[in-house]
Amino acid sequence: MKEILYGFYGIRIYLPLSGLSRKWRRFSRRLRNKDGKLLQQVQLPSVSWRRCATQRIVKIWEHNKANGNIRISELGVISAIAANCKEGTNLFEIGTFDGRTSLNLAFSSPPDCKVYTLDLLPEMDTRFSLASGERHMVEKEKPGKRFEKHRISDSSTVAKIHQLFGDSATFDFSPYEKSCSLVFVDGSHAYEYVMSDSYAAMKMIKKGGVIIWHDYGIWEGVTRALEEIEAKGKYGLKNIKGTSLVYWKNE
Ligand SMILES: C[S@@+](CC[C@H](N)C(=O)[O-])C[C@H]1O[C@@H](n2cnc3c(N)ncnc32)[C@H](O)[C@@H]1O
Repeated sequence: MKEILYGFYGIRIYLPLSGLSRKWRRFSRRLRNKDGKLLQQVQLPSVSWRRCATQRIVKIWEHNKANGNIRISELGVISAIAANCKEGTNLFEIGTFDGRTSLNLAFSSPPDCKVYTLDLLPEMDTRFSLASGERHMVEKEKPGKRFEKHRISDSSTVAKIHQLFGDSATFDFSPYEKSCSLVFVDGSHAYEYVMSDSYAAMKMIKKGGVIIWHDYGIWEGVTRALEEIEAKGKYGLKNIKGTSLVYWKNE
């Protein structure tokens, strides 16, 4: 029951309010002719979350947000999209962190889906430099630490999650090619990583599947990479209103 309440709060209350607050902050920065380091002006067209998912009653587990997690509104939107995933398909997350989103993907997707989640361990080498200010998200004690609490009480859900470790720029994504109905790109925020993770995501996505990116308009590397990908490929990427999520369906 509390999962439904948090879902309602995230998507029906927090989402519209944070949409208004973002609009106001962008408007006031434009008036002052300032482009903030942590909130850029954005160019992708926007779309309502309602056009991205058919699920209306959304549930949220692990509502407490840690520094590094996505907002509760964004978790609600992704969970609604996960509920639309086709049975037996894969979901893939780049950037596990503490596993809050992976858990929600596992809870919200059909029971026979698998959730793969990739993370970089602190001792691993990286092909590109990480963005400044994101190293603390790598230097954590353990990726996916939120899974432990649910391992016994929700064993069949946690069993859907498969943790992978590596640098996303050198990781071999080929076993997942065209197998995913949802890919969530939320790893490094450096431009080079967003470019390479996005193309990896496009190879993994099935026909009819959806790719979601996080932190558009928030991290400069993400904003620049997504606008460049759209300018070059005219894919039809859209920013989900009131969020920093970008949506693309492989139609
Ligand atoms: C913003 S956090 C992810 C948050 C998580 N998706 C959530 O919703 O709670 C970014 C994660 O990406 C991981 N990461 C950073 N660079 C990476 C890389 N090159 N390859 C794989 N993972 C990376 C970090 O270790 C960190 O856990």
